Amino acid sequence: MKKKILIIDDEDVIRKALERFFGGAGYDVQLAGSGEKGLELLNETYPHIVLVDLKLPGISGVEFLRQARVKHPDLTVIVITGFGTIPSAIEAIHSGAYYYVTKPFDLEELYMLVEKAIDHQMLRKENIVLKQELRNKSRHDRMIGTSRGMQALTRLVDQVARTDSTVLILGESGTGKELLAKSMHYNSDRSAKPLVIVNCGAIPENLLESELFGHVKGAFTGAFHTRAGRFEAANNGTIFLDEIGDMSPNLQVKILRVLQDKKFQPVGSAKTTEVDVRIIAATNQNLEQAVAEGKFREDLFYRLNVIPINICPLRERRDDIPILVEHFLKQVNRLGQKSVTGFAPDAMKLLCHYRWPGNIRELENMVERLVILKSSGLIEVSDLPPTVTGGDQQIFLNDIAMPDHGVSFKNLVHDFERELILKALQKSGGNKNQAAMLLKLNRTTLLEKIRKCRLEKEVKSLTHGTGTQQTTAAGR
Ligand SMILES: Nc1ncnc2c1ncn2[C@@H]1O[C@H](COP(=O)(O)OP(=O)(O)OP(=O)(O)O)[C@@H](O)[C@H]1O
Ligand SMILES: [Mg+2]
Repeated sequence: MKKKILIIDDEDVIRKALERFFGGAGYDVQLAGSGEKGLELLNETYPHIVLVDLKLPGISGVEFLRQARVKHPDLTVIVITGFGTIPSAIEAIHSGAYYYVTKPFDLEELYMLVEKAIDHQMLRKENIVLKQELRNKSRHDRMIGTSRGMQALTRLVDQVARTDSTVLILGESGTGKELLAKSMHYNSDRSAKPLVIVNCGAIPENLLESELFGHVKGAFTGAFHTRAGRFEAANNGTIFLDEIGDMSPNLQVKILRVLQDKKFQPVGSAKTTEVDVRIIAATNQNLEQAVAEGKFREDLFYRLNVIPINICPLRERRDDIPILVEHFLKQVNRLGQKSVTGFAPDAMKLLCHYRWPGNIRELENMVERLVILKSSGLIEVSDLPPTVTGGDQQIFLNDIAMPDHGVSFKNLVHDFERELILKALQKSGGNKNQAAMLLKLNRTTLLEKIRKCRLEKEVKSLTHGTGTQQTTAAGR
């Protein structure tokens, strides 16, 4: 894979020289003339390293660094500074830059530094993965991910796994709740004992009680033998109660009792059974809301919620996407005896931008399908399903955040509309027909919007700026 470098400098000469040099050295080079443009490219290209000039026309290099690190905490940045701005360079280092170089710089030296910084970054990532591998041993699938969210999660598993506290795992469907529960169990002192998984949502309500607590012979029609339940099967080990939000109120009371006293009665039995079981529960529902609506017992919620662990959706930790894709690709190649070499950069970019409503499960299934269908070679954009390639909205909508103080809907929509029209006009060199086509609008609607957004002046300057050849084009 080519190493990707993003170069942000407002001086044309420097940008060009760096582009030629790093391009020649086999790098995939992206250029930006401002920090704002740099931030935009950063979210599109996920470079291995960024070179940024400290003095830029809009936001400064230090400000770029600060904003960039919010979304890309592991980003490696080298700052370039002119003579006399060393204090700002030092400030940049404090804000997380890897190193700084002063102008004029020696290209070879800069190259060595860039290579070293990338090696360093790779080592750090490998280290995290190695540690995870060690931790997860070979008993079960390992949890992959180097994003800040994943690191925090693995740290939490380390802290909590060896205790007997009840854990409540919350997260959207497919985020890895079951995998996390397994990880907890196999990293605990109970790992040699059973881990029993019960999907409370999948077992019909009338069967769930006997499934969990067992029954005695003759307890109900068809109970020909006395049978132990899952709680007994999990004795000295862990029970994972998945989809706990789907449990009926009647059973909620009984689970509460097990949590409080570690005791229960098998169906049809007057005798109490005692067990030593660690309970891990999970749900993709909002339990607090279920409590407020009277669907989930408040006392049970508090009993379960001793250590809540939230797994965030994949779209909020996109840094993990490439590494997960790589992991599943290797796995499917191995198991399916395929020889797919990887994903083309454009295809990977689309995967990184997609919303992944089904989270890691959806990603895993998609990679599996793609690898099996492709069999060998590189997976290209044309191999991807339309859900991933088709959503042009996603490129814009992924990064929207809602600040605590809210936003002005009207102003934002107006600004967005104006910006889109301006971008299309810039692309078409002021040609309104082409701009209308780019925006999939009819010409009259576009003209109306140009008026509404007061863009006439911009249109005029674009038209004049592009010379006579364009003015003969249709639609002026
Ligand atoms: N961090 C991860 N690294 C590697 N694989 C993962 C990771 N998280 C989840 N997976 C894989 O994704 C799939 C879905 O994970 P899991 O079944 O644990 O999710 P879940 O939250 O329980 O989903 P659901 O709500 O649909 O039951 C599994 O095949 C799991 O191995
Ligand atoms: Mg699950």
